[in-house]
Amino acid sequence: MPDTHSLRQPDVKGHYNKVADNFDDYFAEIHDSQLQSVVEKIDLQPHHLMVDVGSGTCRFAEQVHKFAQLQKPIICVEPFPEMLAKAKGRKGVLPVLRGGEEFFNDASLCDWFDRVLFIQSYHHLKDPSSVLQNIERSLRPGGICSIWNLTTHSCFERFTRVTTAKLYSSSRHEETYRLLQQANLKVERSNVLLTYDLTKAKLYSMLRGRFITNLYELTDQEIEDGIDKLEKNDFKSLQEDDVIENKATYLVIQGTKLNSINNNMNS
Ligand SMILES: C[S@@+](CC[C@H](N)C(=O)[O-])C[C@H]1O[C@@H](n2cnc3c(N)ncnc32)[C@H](O)[C@@H]1O
Repeated sequence: MPDTHSLRQPDVKGHYNKVADNFDDYFAEIHDSQLQSVVEKIDLQPHHLMVDVGSGTCRFAEQVHKFAQLQKPIICVEPFPEMLAKAKGRKGVLPVLRGGEEFFNDASLCDWFDRVLFIQSYHHLKDPSSVLQNIERSLRPGGICSIWNLTTHSCFERFTRVTTAKLYSSSRHEETYRLLQQANLKVERSNVLLTYDLTKAKLYSMLRGRFITNLYELTDQEIEDGIDKLEKNDFKSLQEDDVIENKATYLVIQGTKLNSINNNMNS
């Protein structure tokens, strides 16, 4: 199946520029539902130093910092000023206006971080192979790079039955696994299922606002046509403030940096 996203390079900056004002609203329920799973999956401990790559507005990082009772601020790496402008006043975060590529390219970052997190941001990296090699260098032994990619989303799937937008193809995930291995990390993968409620009105506003980049390629008319079909079929009997239960699955691929003794035994 062709990967429409690599065929048509979206204007990522333009997308996040437009979405920045509403980002926190679109992602409120999603962030709340994923908080505990993320903290548990990466085994985040209070003394850890963590980097959130593609942190957006830092809303989620602020939640993580509080929930995990971290002692040091989370370093929030985000290339777009419109997104970081929304981070003003947040507690427990240290925003850095940079792309993941540039941030980890700094050779002085050696054995530095305990956790590096990508939530729905890894797909934006232009050269993931070299970024992962640099991340491996920047991790302390035992440190984890955790990559969360949305693989199913019930509201998105309902919508895409009537539109052409697609989630990323599975070959991308295979490649991520392989690149983490090539970066000398011990890799594991698992699925995390999340559920959260959205009112019909909110779901429509998220679709109209293209809350995920997969919707970016659709024209306004295609989005309205899609919503119109949902209105006539799946959601015919629902009022604007009726609640829809959503299920989302993340494929989590994470690599752990082995200490040098383990490394020698593996080789
Ligand atoms: C879907 S948002 C996810 C934001 C956040 N992780 C969350 O879950 O709320 C993807 C984020 O990745 C950022 N991004 C885009 N290109 C990037 C790059 N090259 N390096 C790091 N982040 C990038 C976007 O600006 C955006 O904030």
